[in-house]
Amino acid sequence: MITEQNGVFHIQTDQYSYLFCIDEYGVPEHLHFGAPVQTGDAEALRCRPGLGWGSNVLLKEGDTASCMDVLALEWSGSGRSDYRETPLEITGSASDFRYSGFEILEGSAVMTGGLPQAHGALETLHITMEQPGARLHLYYTAFPTALTRRTVLENTGDAPLTLGKLMSFSVDLPGSYTMATFNGSWIAEMRRTDTAVQESRVVNESLTGASSNRHNPGFLLYEAGATETGGRVYGFNLVYSGNHYASAQRSHQGLTRVMQGINPSHFAKKLAPGEDFETPEAVLCCSDEGFGGLSRRMHTFVTDHIIRPYWRNRPRPVKYNSWEGCMFDFNQHRLLDLADRAKDLGCELFVLDDGWFGARNNDKAGLGDYNVNTKKLPKGLEGLSDRIRAKGLQFGLWFEPESVNPDSDLYRAHPDWALTDDFYPVYGRNQLLLDLTKQEVRDYIVEKVSNILDSAKISYVKWDMNRHSIALGAKTHDFVLGLYEVLRRIFIPRPGILLESCSSGGNRFDLGMLCFSPQIWASDDTDPIERLAIQTGYSYLYPQSTWGSHVSATPHAQTLRTTPLSTRGNVAFFGCLGYELDLKHLLPIEVKEVKAQTAFYKRYREIFQYGTFSRHALGWQVSDGKTTLAGVFHGLVPAAPGYERLRLVGLDKDKTYRVTSLEQTIRVGQFGNLLKHVAPVSIDPNGQLLRLADRHISLPSGTEAMTVSGAALMSGILLRPQFRGTGYDQNQRTQGDFGSDLYIVEEIEA
Ligand code: DGJ
Repeated sequence: MITEQNGVFHIQTDQYSYLFCIDEYGVPEHLHFGAPVQTGDAEALRCRPGLGWGSNVLLKEGDTASCMDVLALEWSGSGRSDYRETPLEITGSASDFRYSGFEILEGSAVMTGGLPQAHGALETLHITMEQPGARLHLYYTAFPTALTRRTVLENTGDAPLTLGKLMSFSVDLPGSYTMATFNGSWIAEMRRTDTAVQESRVVNESLTGASSNRHNPGFLLYEAGATETGGRVYGFNLVYSGNHYASAQRSHQGLTRVMQGINPSHFAKKLAPGEDFETPEAVLCCSDEGFGGLSRRMHTFVTDHIIRPYWRNRPRPVKYNSWEGCMFDFNQHRLLDLADRAKDLGCELFVLDDGWFGARNNDKAGLGDYNVNTKKLPKGLEGLSDRIRAKGLQFGLWFEPESVNPDSDLYRAHPDWALTDDFYPVYGRNQLLLDLTKQEVRDYIVEKVSNILDSAKISYVKWDMNRHSIALGAKTHDFVLGLYEVLRRIFIPRPGILLESCSSGGNRFDLGMLCFSPQIWASDDTDPIERLAIQTGYSYLYPQSTWGSHVSATPHAQTLRTTPLSTRGNVAFFGCLGYELDLKHLLPIEVKEVKAQTAFYKRYREIFQYGTFSRHALGWQVSDGKTTLAGVFHGLVPAAPGYERLRLVGLDKDKTYRVTSLEQTIRVGQFGNLLKHVAPVSIDPNGQLLRLADRHISLPSGTEAMTVSGAALMSGILLRPQFRGTGYDQNQRTQGDFGSDLYIVEEIEA
């Protein structure tokens, strides 16, 4: 519900209150963002500057309450008595917008500038503010667990103006916070970095032309002492895929200014009289239940209001992807053999990755030429798709439509469609970006991709993007709008196609892309130990249904680390499961294990993909309220490991639960020298016999089975000990380095 009472605006759901008021100078003052409060609390929540703070500039001489520099503001100008960072810059002019009116709308105020928008809103508050020659619109849209804010600037004067900066929101939160940002690089996305917000500005931004794997646009602010289960945590994110900017800075008076929007660097928008500029929606969320509470609210928001309704809570297929197994080296025969094996293992979707068109036999040529390579696929895409679908699998295909190799027919025909930097061309993965600000380029992509999707009966698309550039300078934002137009034109008429976007893994993992693609390929790094950090990072802000997670070969291609198949599965279960390795090389015992994995995953698929996700001290859990699945993950095992306590969240303390663990095995080869102590014959640990046995024999690693109350599970139960060199039996977990367990916790009906 949104109300206005004597100049106090109150946006309220049963999860939060957001309050601000308009003061006597027409300046919006922030009052509260947090747990629900009363409108009547406004005065108590407001900053009272008393007799003032000394040498500050006043809007009205003698009135210390007119010193904007020391007030908690909802929006701020520049050069007019608030000297903190401004969310708005009009080149060559101060800005000092004052309140002029409001309206409350049902649902959302529809965005008109081509940006994606969250759907299913409750209500929207539209505030207008004016200064000579310009009007500013502030939009607050309420959703049950979060709100969005965005702005529009209108040139109401009779001369052009240049907008140098326009944030989606700015707010001054009373208190001191630490900022958690999610940073990284290729194959190492979403590493959490915590920085105390003090009087120097802390900035989280991207300048690659996209949202980037360097700095995800989503971030948190939390109070000292916040944990997974308690303390105040704010979460922010942007529904945008281009250069983003966010900052936080604490004032001497103890107010933390936080803002987020399009990065003002490489951005300058000329507005002719009558023109306006619309910013992307920013998402604001808060919880007094710690990081876990904040994440769950953000997850609900993304699932219910960002993901396209068709894919909301719709089960995602178990997929096989050809990339890591084949790279560019395949033909129809090899693909059909892989499809047979994938089907036998329990996969439901077969995805042909890069290399199927033009002269694309490596990454140096062919990008842009989406004509099937008939040497590799003599029956064409349709022929391949028909055969794959006849096996009972869905068929999916890879594209990278935003780029072009200079060695391609497309580039030879239209060199002017590619973006070259101002001084000389700069290549990334031997490719240039196509200029998506050009209508003819967008039309070409839409037509080419749509025709293939329809003719080859494609159920899934992997939309890749492997280079970024800000060669467009001030047109960078228009490139992003061009991309959104292309995605809208291709995929809105084809809602049933599952789109998974990708940018060398998670180089463009953001809410803008999620408005079109319900899944994003989270990282090219499928090493499960690296994925623990990567998926944990994503889980702060994005639900697990939004990331693709695959089981791949070991030793791992990016880390050379060897990990058990069970751990590769257990980690990939927490997301949209897939397999990405040469299936021909799986051993019979591995085939058996993968079949068991896909069967287990399908049985609990709804919970793995859409259950309530929580991080616990030993790993992750997902739950539908009745059944909880908890992963416990290990790195290098210490000698004589101590007891481990599994402490779950969100159970009913008065209910009784059956706890079992997923049956897992350990390959005999892992015992090495130890086997000679138990085998009747002498065994050479490096010999043929052990190698042969290792390919065919695995031993149970011991399973858990107990009945226990919710109260005990939430207080913490002790797990069976791990192997410690004192023997092998089923009363301990025998796993070695990088082992893991999967616990199934089921409520027992009274
Ligand atoms: C980069 C992606 O992240 C990979 O998964 C794969 O699709 C390759 N591109 C193909 O070139």
